[in-house]
Amino acid sequence: MFEKLQAQKPDSILMLMQMYREDPRTDKVDLGVGVYKDATGATPIMRAIKTAEQQLWQAETSKSYVGLVGDPAFSDAMVKLVLGDAVARDKVSAAATPGGTGAVRQAFELIQLARPDARIFVSNPTWPNHLSILDHLGIEKAAYRYFDEATRGVDFDGMIADLKTARAGDVVLLHGCCHNPTGANLTMPQWQEVIAVLQDTGAVPMIDIAYQGFGDGLDADAAATRAVAAAMPECLIAASCSKNFGIYRERTGILMLVANGTDKGIAQGTLAYLNRQNYSFPPDHGARLVTMILNDDALRADWMAELEEVRLSMLGLREQLAQELQQRSGSDRFGFLAQHRGMFSRIGATPEQVQAMRESHSVYMVGDSRMNIAGLNAQSVPILAEAIIAAGV
Ligand code: LMR
Repeated sequence: MFEKLQAQKPDSILMLMQMYREDPRTDKVDLGVGVYKDATGATPIMRAIKTAEQQLWQAETSKSYVGLVGDPAFSDAMVKLVLGDAVARDKVSAAATPGGTGAVRQAFELIQLARPDARIFVSNPTWPNHLSILDHLGIEKAAYRYFDEATRGVDFDGMIADLKTARAGDVVLLHGCCHNPTGANLTMPQWQEVIAVLQDTGAVPMIDIAYQGFGDGLDADAAATRAVAAAMPECLIAASCSKNFGIYRERTGILMLVANGTDKGIAQGTLAYLNRQNYSFPPDHGARLVTMILNDDALRADWMAELEEVRLSMLGLREQLAQELQQRSGSDRFGFLAQHRGMFSRIGATPEQVQAMRESHSVYMVGDSRMNIAGLNAQSVPILAEAIIAAGV
């Protein structure tokens, strides 16, 4: 029966992880998968997570099932963190999911259930796994222009022109902040224009927000998501706690649905149904830690302080890299690196240049020249700058 299985197309990010692991060179620089590393190259457990885990170990008396959509307290805390007061809590259905990827997958399945002929508009480029999951589910996708290769900013005119071709009932997938893979983001006035196009076309927004707190701050990074959710009658939001709580392997995420014309019991029940079909109960450990942190003043303050340290360190690395490149190239053409936000920047190198950087300087970035800024430190920034210039980017 399984003899007909064929090799699957490798995931570009995971393939790079493997290549990096297998490289025996000791001075190698990993700018592949989106994981934060501190100045020593470690991915630390955040202080508040460690404290919450200690408290949980003392207090938890059972590992019995929680509920199909997870603990309602997790949903409450996350709806508040992401949406603030933009939408009344009773208008939001929510389900805990295994990570942000789980939320994306459940959102796509929900769309398929509600509207099998919906097309999903994705930015060009987008996170490769968006495309892979859509293909796996057999959902039709359409691309909208997003990245301007010349400026390394957003091709906003192209984006708006393409979004205008969406039809009522299509879905537009947007990155709430810290666009992955480019690092180029919309301004708030541009978000307002996107909202106007969505309202005109009747397309439904789906927001993937995986890096809240990594760009301009917790509230600033959620501002676009809040504006969209407040303005639109229907909206899907897939949020991840992997990065901003540093709990990658715990698989903690949430899918939120705002559907004003839909009976709330049906909306919430459908999210529970979809969880049941795919994995029954979502993982609890990470969600419980997040809930404890968000609902405890001291833990929350400590988490926010550490998250801010992480954010500022990434901004500092961006500035340092932009300056190094300015000195080495004698031009301002890399100034966009300091304007980009979040973990990633697409530097705009060809696949050959990316390979050359890997071979000559042991610098690993994804083939589309996405670099994980959070994988850098003060010592590796000059190595990267040298590699970029040597490769002729
Ligand atoms: C990334 O884009 O590197 C992260 O979202 C991790 C992943 O699963 O790809």
